Amino acid sequence: MQNIKVNLSRNSYMIKIGAGILDQIDDSLRSLGMRNKAVIVTNPLVKNLYGDGLNTHLMKAGLETTVLEVPDGEEYKSLEQTGRLFDRMSEFGAERSTPVIALGGGVIGDLTGFVAATYMRGIPLIQLPTTLLAQVDSSIGGKTAVNHGKLKNMIGAFYQPKIVLADISTLKTLSEAEVVNGLAEVIKYGIISDRGLFQLIEDNIEKLKLTHMDVTEEVVARCVDVKARVVEKDERDEGWRNILNYGHTIGHAVETVSDFKIKHGHGVAIGMVGAGMIAQRVGLLSAFELERIRSLIIVAGLPIKIPDLDIEQIMQAMRHDKKKIEGKIRFILPRNIGEVLIRDDISTILVQEVLRDLGK
Ligand code: NAD
Ligand code: GLY
Repeated sequence: MQNIKVNLSRNSYMIKIGAGILDQIDDSLRSLGMRNKAVIVTNPLVKNLYGDGLNTHLMKAGLETTVLEVPDGEEYKSLEQTGRLFDRMSEFGAERSTPVIALGGGVIGDLTGFVAATYMRGIPLIQLPTTLLAQVDSSIGGKTAVNHGKLKNMIGAFYQPKIVLADISTLKTLSEAEVVNGLAEVIKYGIISDRGLFQLIEDNIEKLKLTHMDVTEEVVARCVDVKARVVEKDERDEGWRNILNYGHTIGHAVETVSDFKIKHGHGVAIGMVGAGMIAQRVGLLSAFELERIRSLIIVAGLPIKIPDLDIEQIMQAMRHDKKKIEGKIRFILPRNIGEVLIRDDISTILVQEVLRDLGK
């Protein structure tokens, strides 16, 4: 088991990573002074796999609990479900001190986080992430959000959890497609900040795809450590935290133009190659390093090419992205594997050229 602290003065918290760690939840709650009630939010699939066991465990430990289900899917990360959860929590008698436990992937984590941030102006949030993406990314750092109409992740709050318990044995039931989707973010951490992690992923990519426990624990912990250090420097995403968006400038635009038929991890993978190509063409990154990035993305089972999508629409989507700053498109560019720069001065012509090459 590995313990990583996120140091944010009054909002500091621990992230525990290991196989079987969900069984320690009652100890964790007790050590945080939470002994009476708890609300568990999950979806039907995760409830069947882990929710019922978790609930029984908490009841045996003497807590009064309720399990609230949200249907599975991004479309349920909504204000409507937020309102439904408020009603159910109020009926249950949830108070300011009642913890709400997010058990699931990033959808459940983001939605439950937003509910925790706003119910009674904030109640304790516990993150129990069960996808690779949620364990290395969405459960950490306090970004909570719901979608509203065309506004994806634009209604939300910064709200840190009290603890994150990443039980890597839950990844065993994840489909290979979801593991591969999460691997895009895993590779991202190596490129933005940890060359040794990148090498570790290269050396163990087949084991990671099969979620071998030892290497998965090590890699998840290294990713979490990178994210924790970035969040500590810039909790509210006012500058340095933007580096976590490496691959997301092009990636998110590709996802949007595909009407979200392209998965997030696939978009990020294409975007990481695209940002690498821009970095090489402006003289930051060597051809050798770019090839290493491209090769790892391929062996991870992720795409490196834009499927049949309109390049001008992708440009438009980038111009409308919430990550743009004062009208300029922001790129995170690798200078090396393990080091990135934030650049707002990349010419439209170069971006279009790279998008065209990504489409060939
Ligand atoms: P998800 O939550 O939809 O989970 C993917 C699928 O895996 C779902 O069908 C889910 O039911 C299933 N699942 C979850 N755990 C499982 C398990 N252990 N075994 C079997 N199946 C399991 O998707 P995701 O990729 O985890 O998260 C994507 C969401 O995260 C998006 O809404 C995105 O906006 C958000 N996100 C947030 C942040 C942040 O910083 N807050 C960062 C990245 C992504
Ligand atoms: N997932 C990007 C961030 O947390 O800032």
